[in-house]
Order: sequence, then C-alpha cells, then structure tokens
Amino acid sequence: MSPRVWLAAVLIGAGAWVLAGAPSRAAAADAESGAAVFAAKQCVRCHVPRSEQGPGPVLEEIRRPQGAMELAGRLWNHVPAMAGMLAQRGFQWPSISASEMADLMAYLQGDALRDARPDLYKGQVTLLRKNCLKCHSLRREGGRVEPDLAERRGDYESASAWAAAMWTHTPRMAAMASSVGVAYPRFTGDEMGNLVGFLREAAAAPLRGTGGAPKR
Ligand code: HEC
Ligand code: HEC
Repeated sequence: MSPRVWLAAVLIGAGAWVLAGAPSRAAAADAESGAAVFAAKQCVRCHVPRSEQGPGPVLEEIRRPQGAMELAGRLWNHVPAMAGMLAQRGFQWPSISASEMADLMAYLQGDALRDARPDLYKGQVTLLRKNCLKCHSLRREGGRVEPDLAERRGDYESASAWAAAMWTHTPRMAAMASSVGVAYPRFTGDEMGNLVGFLREAAAAPLRGTGGAPKR
C-alpha cells in the first residue's frame, strides 16, 4: 500500500468511527462544565436553589432526571418568558454553542435514554398542530420563512444539536409569532422527540421525483 492510499484508508476509517460514534457524543458531555455554563449564561440569575428566592422555578425543579428531547422542549417553551425578563433588565440574549448546550443539558440531567422512541406519525401531527408550517415549508409545502424544514439535517442529529439551534432561533421566532398572530408553540412530554424524529426522517429522504417542480 502506498503511503497515500494508506492515509486515505485511515481517514476513511476515522470518518466512519466519528459517524458511528456520533450518537454517544452527548454522553461524553460533561455535567461539571455544564454547571459552569449554567452560571456563565445567566441561568443562575433566575434559577436558584429552593432555599433561596428567585424569579424562575427553583433549580431542583429544572434540574432533574428527564429525557433529553423533553428538556429541549422545555428550553424551547421558556424562551418568551426569559427573553422578556432579560430585555426588561437590559441583558442580552446569551448565545450558547452546541458543545456548551450538550454540557448544560448533561448538568440539567437530560438523558437521551429516557426519551421514548420517536413516533413518526405523532411527530407529523405535532408539526401541523404547532403551526410550524404557517411559517416554514416542508419539502416546499407550507410557509415561506427559510429554512425548508427538510433541509436542516444537522439540527436533528441529537437533542443538544437541536436545542442549540433552537436557542438561537426561538427568540426571533417568538417575536415574529406575536407580530403575525401565530401562537408560540409549547411542548410537553414526548412531543418534541416525536417532532424531531419525524423531521430527521423527512430530511434523510431528499425531495426527488415527486412530480412537478418545487413551488418556489
Ligand atoms: C430572566 C430570568 C431567567 C433566566 C435568566 C433563565 N430563566 Fe429559565 N425560566 C424563567 C422563568 C420565569 C421560567 C418559568 C416560566 C416559563 O417556563 O416560561 C423558567 C423556566 C425554565 C425551565 C422550565 C421550562 C418548562 O417548560 O418546564 C427551564 C428548563 C429553564 N428555565 C432553564 C433555563 C436555563 C438553562 C437558563 C440559562 C440558559 C435559564 N433558564 C435562564 C426565567 C429565567
Ligand atoms: C411565526 C413564524 C415561525 C413559526 C411558527 C416557526 N418558525 Fe422556525 N423560524 C422562524 C424564523 C423567522 C426563523 C429564522 C430565525 C433566525 O434566523 O434566527 C426560523 C428558523 C427555524 C429553523 C432554523 C434554525 C437554524 O438552525 O438556523 C428551524 C429548524 C426552525 N425554524 C424550526 C421550526 C419548527 C420545528 C417550528 C414549529 C415547532 C417552527 N420553526 C415554527 C419563524 C417561525
């Protein structure tokens, strides 16, 4: 084997390893670093231990064993309340990277093993009920706000990737929802897991040969 071929083989092998290892990356997330993220991103301003007084639910309530997608749903839910309170006090919306989000979720005890297996049919129903298609399209059917939801594969890879993307997106979405009169969607239980499971499936099967050109 020439060195070049060998290097290519190693790289391909490493690529396969990274892909195969991807789902467990969340498990490598570090709860201790997550505690630091919780402090650095202002969470501690509003979520304090039960023994103290704070404006948000006590730490023990938001930090407890729960599904990772369930937690992603809860993070999504509280964007309007948090954005409103931060704006009132003159604070900026804290940006959170994908790896910080993974650590933060580990600290809050979100665990993918606690999520039920996604029910794709229920996920599709959730997509419709939560009004996502009032703004976005799915395979070019629906609203006109970018992105088309079948085009964001990376966002659906894990609960933390999803939560990180949504952390960035939801404040603008909440603002737009109130300006166009769409109710800001909220999620409970397995709803978020089902929705993201359905979107992951939709994104994995590219639009092809369904007859006719895309609408736009
Ligand atoms: C300015 C105050 C404030 C800050 C800062 C804040 N929160 Fe909250 N949080 C709230 C309030 C108020 C609620 C309850 C109302 C709600 O859920 O919409 C809440 C609720 C929650 C919930 C439960 C939501 C649900 O639906 O069960 C979670 C989880 C949460 N916060 C996590 C966080 C994390 C993580 C951070 C830091 C990145 C953070 N919060 C920062 C005020 C805040
Ligand atoms: C009121 C309109 C509105 C609704 C309803 C809405 N979105 Fe969005 N969405 C937006 C806007 C605006 C952006 C672009 C935000 C930005 O650029 O920060 C966006 C961005 C996104 C993105 C891209 C995030 C990224 O990685 O850049 C995804 C994925 C997404 N929305 C999913 C959803 C899902 C799932 C629902 C339903 C639960 C939904 N949206 C409902 C307005 C909406």
